[in-house]
Amino acid sequence: MKPSIQTIRNLKGQRKIVMITAYDALFASLLDDAADILLVGDSLEMSFAGRQDTLGATMESMIYHTQAVCRGAKKAVVVCDMPFGSTTTSDEALANAVRVYRETSAHAIKIEGGEEKASLIRHLTEHGIAIMGHVGLLPQFVRAEGGYRIKGHDELSAQKIIRDAQAIEAAGVFAIVIEGVKSEIATKVAQTVSVPVIGIGAGAGVDGQVLVFSDMLGFFEAFKPKFVRRYLEGGALVREAAKRFAEDVRSGAFPAREEEY
Ligand code: KIV
Repeated sequence: MKPSIQTIRNLKGQRKIVMITAYDALFASLLDDAADILLVGDSLEMSFAGRQDTLGATMESMIYHTQAVCRGAKKAVVVCDMPFGSTTTSDEALANAVRVYRETSAHAIKIEGGEEKASLIRHLTEHGIAIMGHVGLLPQFVRAEGGYRIKGHDELSAQKIIRDAQAIEAAGVFAIVIEGVKSEIATKVAQTVSVPVIGIGAGAGVDGQVLVFSDMLGFFEAFKPKFVRRYLEGGALVREAAKRFAEDVRSGAFPAREEEY
């Protein structure tokens, strides 16, 4: 049976959930076997479009990339990230979420934010939208906060993250991403809420892990955050392959007779 939002919910306490970002059909098809969830993250603004942060993503770009990922994903649940500025009011958020459902076959959307987004999230879940929450470090606040700041260092910040997770759970999210949070706080959040908590830079005590595919595969080489583990040196492999192709073209070794019509 094809996994669904319900399958993901039921994985809590059974086994760890694997989520990987994908932005196109080709990589979606390559990652589909391993991943429970393919997240079309607004991180595509950085990883795909080369921008400094995620704030330039639009509904048009998210829908375009989600359509591509849905074509490549045969098995994994697909989640479309709602871009900066697309969920400022409940009505606007609902209209944009309906667009995602109408124009793609994504299973769910993801919205950054905690307590302050709870009533908006409730409005959407009451209208049939499946939502993944996102608490802790919120990349869409990078300019407002003057950088990426790890959360949960002090009691106030830890309590806020726990309240955020509880508020969006009560509003109906089926899972929560927790990003850039001290691991003991993330563990506490996972123990406190009944929905799966998927971590990025949040330690091992949560219900699953997510990485951006280009970090995980070593294609993004400009810097490596502490929480990233590279499972491939993709950048080096691509450069080496391109160099060999260039040498073969320049020397006349490519194409050979068997590569001609
Ligand atoms: O945009 C994204 O890729 C994300 C993940 C880092 C969770 O939100």
